[in-house]
Amino acid sequence: MIERSESLQFFVDAASAAFDQFAKAPAARRSIRQIFTLLEHSAPERDGPGSRLPVCKNLDEALSINTPEASLQRLIEGFKGIEPNLEWRQRTRCDGTESANFADGHANAMIIGPGGLEERSDLWIGVTLMVPHVRYPDHDHAPEEVYLVLSKGEFQQGEGEWFSPGIGGSFYNEPGIKHAMRSVETPFLAFWALLAGESH
Ligand SMILES: [Fe+2]
Repeated sequence: MIERSESLQFFVDAASAAFDQFAKAPAARRSIRQIFTLLEHSAPERDGPGSRLPVCKNLDEALSINTPEASLQRLIEGFKGIEPNLEWRQRTRCDGTESANFADGHANAMIIGPGGLEERSDLWIGVTLMVPHVRYPDHDHAPEEVYLVLSKGEFQQGEGEWFSPGIGGSFYNEPGIKHAMRSVETPFLAFWALLAGESH
């Protein structure tokens, strides 16, 4: 079996503990359990430095969250350890529901999954960063998804009301559901975990 780098394994362990602590809905807990069981087996890891986008200058502020939760502090610490290797990207598919400042106001990074640090197709773990007052476009995808939110920020599922999970908030997106997110007056940071396999 391939050994994960120490920094990525630290992040995986921290993410496992944090998602386990904060994912509450039964479907989210089942999904998270499946994802982190799959992650007991690693896949080939990309080597070399990552690449940032200009919006990443907001990372320091986004990562300096004020939380008493040790698991979230550990997740941030683990994320800082791998962030220099991530390739931050802009989403290119938009549908007009995004704000005018969206393109330069956000960045996504795949940590584990297609194009991620650890290349695999059975699951995706990644992160979204946004500057204040950005609305991400409506989107949907076949894999189910669990979010873990590390900042202020608001989310919408389907045609539902916008809601604020808060720091440590977590919620479940069923397969194919339309969803969106928007930042408020502070930088936005949220992790997402998608189960792309056929095991559900
Ligand atoms: Fe999503």
